Amino acid sequence: MAIPRILVVGSINQDIIFYGPQGDAMSVNGCLVFDSFDEFQGGKGANQAIAAAKLGAYSSLVGAVGDDPAGKGMIKTLADEGVETTFVSAIKGVKTGLSAIFNMRKGGYVGTNVLGANSLISTAMVENALAAEKFDMVLMQLEMPLETVYGTYSAARKHSIPVVLDAGPAKHIPLERLEGIFMISPNEAEAYALTGIDVADESGVRKAAEYLYEHTSCTYAVMKLGPRGAYLFDGQDGEMFPAVDKPCVDTTGAGDTFTTAMMIKLCEGGSISEAIQYGNAAAALCISKKGGLVSIPSRKEADDLYDQITKEAEL
Ligand code: RIB
Repeated sequence: MAIPRILVVGSINQDIIFYGPQGDAMSVNGCLVFDSFDEFQGGKGANQAIAAAKLGAYSSLVGAVGDDPAGKGMIKTLADEGVETTFVSAIKGVKTGLSAIFNMRKGGYVGTNVLGANSLISTAMVENALAAEKFDMVLMQLEMPLETVYGTYSAARKHSIPVVLDAGPAKHIPLERLEGIFMISPNEAEAYALTGIDVADESGVRKAAEYLYEHTSCTYAVMKLGPRGAYLFDGQDGEMFPAVDKPCVDTTGAGDTFTTAMMIKLCEGGSISEAIQYGNAAAALCISKKGGLVSIPSRKEADDLYDQITKEAEL
């Protein structure tokens, strides 16, 4: 089987993640109060590029960091994890992106992002990467300029490469310029931001998926619904794929892991159902540890859990 070749276009961040049983309890002076924080490397693009490499793909990242210690550290980690970094630019005079992630008392999280160098990711950088090498799929997110999102899609289309939009962070964007995209995959908040439809129950999930399909003519809309699992809509039928039950420590990076694992399974010839189950297994492993990038499972870990749930489903 040929090794999948994935081009990821997206953000590189330093992550500060806040934890604690008090969650978002307000102190008297109006501050959010947490018990502890940890610092990690992250960013949706970096997480996805590393997930692709760890899960067995050839993975190249188009991204940007500042000329600061965080940026240098990030390029080293990407390379150490097997990601091709030729198209990661270190840009003078700007800072590497920053994300503060607050784990809330009631579950879920709130994120605050400073784009920094991510705001300088350009379509020209993507065109250079696509001209230099062949790829099976392109994966992008919304943590970079919107024109680069659309430019990435147009450039990949010129090379007839299917594109997946992992639609985070939550943002309302015009979808028409993504007409014909292979897959669009939002989580609950992102689905609401894109469609204005509440996805709290299954009828809302279906309506939001139909909205995405109608506005993009995508091949697949795949909704990431946290503990409920993932919902697939292919323009005709909808199907819910329950999440794999694992204790949740930190959901950071779970969506990145899910989407990337799903793409790899598809590139390897798996069906869309197999790909979503594989994504669910990989994401379940990611949430069982603190941090995003550091919690991405190895190929063996993801395969073992996938094999286990597949066998259990057959019994
Ligand atoms: O998807 C998780 C990522 O989103 C974090 O690593 C953080 O950097 C934000 O970009």
